[in-house]
Amino acid sequence: MKKRKVYVLRIGHRPSRDKRISTHVGLVARAFGADGIIYSNTNDRGLYQSLMKVVETWGGPFEVKLGGHWRQIIKDWKDRGGVVIHLTMYGENIEQSDILRKLRELEKDVLVVVGAEKVPGEVYDLADFNIAIGNQPHSEVAALAIFLDRLFEGRELTKEFKNAKLKIIPQIRGKKVVKIG
Ligand SMILES: C[S@@+](CC[C@H](N)C(=O)[O-])C[C@H]1O[C@@H](n2cnc3c(N)ncnc32)[C@H](O)[C@@H]1O
Repeated sequence: MKKRKVYVLRIGHRPSRDKRISTHVGLVARAFGADGIIYSNTNDRGLYQSLMKVVETWGGPFEVKLGGHWRQIIKDWKDRGGVVIHLTMYGENIEQSDILRKLRELEKDVLVVVGAEKVPGEVYDLADFNIAIGNQPHSEVAALAIFLDRLFEGRELTKEFKNAKLKIIPQIRGKKVVKIG
């Protein structure tokens, strides 16, 4: 059976203000098991390069894409048979919804949409599901981490990344990093 793809769509990235948090969204997407991230409506090469440096050093595969309009990206994803989950504090509380069971049954590719500042109202209508990681305001980084961890049921935390140059050997104390290849 083909492995389903999980991608993150980060909308509303402003290069002047969001560089650090957008990078963190990408780092979380990779470390918590997503196959890639799309930053719509931007051509921020610095953001791209800082994430690709992490992929080269610590492994992948993990795809980073820049640009495209979020509306078209969401529509294309749905047209290709994928499901779109928008993470928003206004959505159905993940704890009270059966979204994870539905996603396991559907076995479709998943696009997880997270915003920056105000998310356009249209996103709420285009998404198949609007899901809250608790109905309190917090952060796209936290929301994404918890959603992916629940989706993958913790398995992503022991994922083996391929083609890494460095690998951490977990220690009770201190740091041990080995070079590979
Ligand atoms: C700083 S918040 C912006 C909230 C903004 N008021 C809005 O219109 O959505 C940035 C992003 O974090 C995510 N987020 C924040 N709190 C969340 C929650 N409780 N559940 C799910 N996602 C959340 C959403 O993806 C949101 O677009």
